[in-house]
Amino acid sequence: MSNNNRPRLDGKVFVVTGATKGIGTSIAERIVCEGGRVVITGRDSQAGTRLVDAMGADFCFFVNADITTVEGCSRGIMAATERFGRLDGLVNNAGIFPRASLLETDEDLLDTVLAVDLKGAFHSCRFAIPVMAEMGGGSIVNVGSTHAWGGSKRLAAYAVSKGALWTLTQHIAMNYASDRIRANWVTVGWVETPGETSRLAQEGRDEAWLRSEGARRVPLGRLQSGDDIAYAVVYLLADESAQVTGTAIHVTGGFLP
Ligand SMILES: NC(=O)c1ccc[n+]([C@@H]2O[C@H](COP(=O)([O-])OP(=O)(O)OC[C@H]3O[C@@H](n4cnc5c(N)ncnc54)[C@H](OP(=O)(O)O)[C@@H]3O)[C@@H](O)[C@H]2O)c1
Repeated sequence: MSNNNRPRLDGKVFVVTGATKGIGTSIAERIVCEGGRVVITGRDSQAGTRLVDAMGADFCFFVNADITTVEGCSRGIMAATERFGRLDGLVNNAGIFPRASLLETDEDLLDTVLAVDLKGAFHSCRFAIPVMAEMGGGSIVNVGSTHAWGGSKRLAAYAVSKGALWTLTQHIAMNYASDRIRANWVTVGWVETPGETSRLAQEGRDEAWLRSEGARRVPLGRLQSGDDIAYAVVYLLADESAQVTGTAIHVTGGFLP
């Protein structure tokens, strides 16, 4: 019989990319609440340092890393073993979602979106899988979006990048199960985050508009919170999901992809 009183992530170590703000911060905080230790990455050193102070240096370590560089992806992964001695999972959360239709997306914009949303995750997995395989296995969670399945007209590059991230999730699940590596995906619906509010501000919309639209358009009647997403991620990182791989959990309040 399992010990139900043990924290879900007791003794485990994870990397969360893009955790200096928004959904990534909620995931990192929930990991620590569940007894895990976490390496958070991002480019905003002030925010990263504040989070380490809040969560405690014994549980959280910040790596200033830009995941558009291969070296940045590698550094985030290596920090887990260097600082905490092991790696049990990777959450590919960092993402950008600039508005542009297919016809408006030039080469630079496409390259920029793919570099963060797809290549950053791809290279992070490339470095994380051998380390986790060596330690007997691990769990990868990719933070996805309903836009992966077609996407809205003004999010062309984003939709394509998330579609490829979903394929990467299944590719790893299918081909690395023998190394005890699992890969799953959490579909995020609509969350009020710094990224989302600054995108809306460019369209002249504020947080009040966002919340009222959430209440109106989300079938379950509200926007999702960062914690709503983090609970699903923690389940996929924990041993409770040891037989779960290649799946998507939709935390979308009833929006279906
Ligand atoms: N919010 C939503 O409604 C929503 C909906 C569907 C899916 N999602 C997905 O959820 C994830 C998080 O989104 P969010 O809304 O929390 O976004 P956010 O508030 O803009 O936060 C994005 C995070 O990604 C990091 N990041 C961006 N570019 C980076 C880079 N080049 N290198 C390293 N880190 C980088 C940022 O850190 P720094 O600034 O420190 O670099 C920040 O911590 C994304 O994958 C997004 O696609 C969000």
